[in-house]
Amino acid sequence: MLKVEHLYKSYRNGNNVYEVLKDVSFEVKQGEFVAVMGPSGSGKTTLLNCISCFIPHDKGKILLQNNELSRLDEKQIAKVRNENLGFVFQDFMLLDGLTVFENVCVPKVIRKEVYGPMEKKAKNLLELFGIHEIADKYPAEISGGQKQRTAVARALMNDPLLILADEPTGNLDSRSSEAVISAFLEAQKTLNATTFMVTHDSFSASYCDRVIVMRDGNVYTELVNNGDRKKFLEQLLDILKNLNGGEQE
Ligand SMILES: Nc1ncnc2c1ncn2[C@@H]1O[C@H](COP(=O)(O)OP(=O)(O)O)[C@@H](O)[C@H]1O
Ligand SMILES: [Mg+2]
Repeated sequence: MLKVEHLYKSYRNGNNVYEVLKDVSFEVKQGEFVAVMGPSGSGKTTLLNCISCFIPHDKGKILLQNNELSRLDEKQIAKVRNENLGFVFQDFMLLDGLTVFENVCVPKVIRKEVYGPMEKKAKNLLELFGIHEIADKYPAEISGGQKQRTAVARALMNDPLLILADEPTGNLDSRSSEAVISAFLEAQKTLNATTFMVTHDSFSASYCDRVIVMRDGNVYTELVNNGDRKKFLEQLLDILKNLNGGEQE
């Protein structure tokens, strides 16, 4: 599904070159829910932004279903972003002037799709995530957890190959975080959705199938959840504690 091969990315500031990603390789399979963790500054957001095609990378390959993203021109990238990727951001990025229902419809409105099937699809997703009762409310009238579940529904509207989420629970309390993580799990179970999520929240990550741990622009290790979530959480906390001398993001 997603293959990242020997990825390099540096930022240039005048004469200074700062290498952020140094030979990053990993894979995400169809239907997997994968988290990326690691200390602040380890390159998580940069990695996600490269996969999102928000920023170009220097070297290496990003393959989405065997299509190499860096080979695409701007028009093709816009198409991939609308049709194959779904995005969930830390600060929701909902449109304040649109209702929950209308926000969820946006990706299909952009594609100028007809109303009937769009309405049906949106209603199914709202129901799936338990937000159908607030369909006509505006973002200002709903909780953070409800906003983020709206964003997850919107991300799924075009049946993307991959959902990319940067700190989706970063602005939420623990109860709302759980509701958002359940939305990703529900999408995985019901729609076989594939999610790649950057998070510094070990609790959220403990619900994932696998966690890729980054350090200094590299994949430090990968941990697989063998089904015992509490044990997985302990493992994650241990690794992260060792990584940064106890300091976490
Ligand atoms: N646009 C940029 N220009 C220069 N340096 C950047 C830029 N974006 C991020 N960095 C630097 O790259 C490093 C990795 O950043 P980032 O990918 O945001 O890490 P993380 O998400 O793991 O905290 C940090 O040291 C950050 O200061
Ligand atoms: Mg970040």
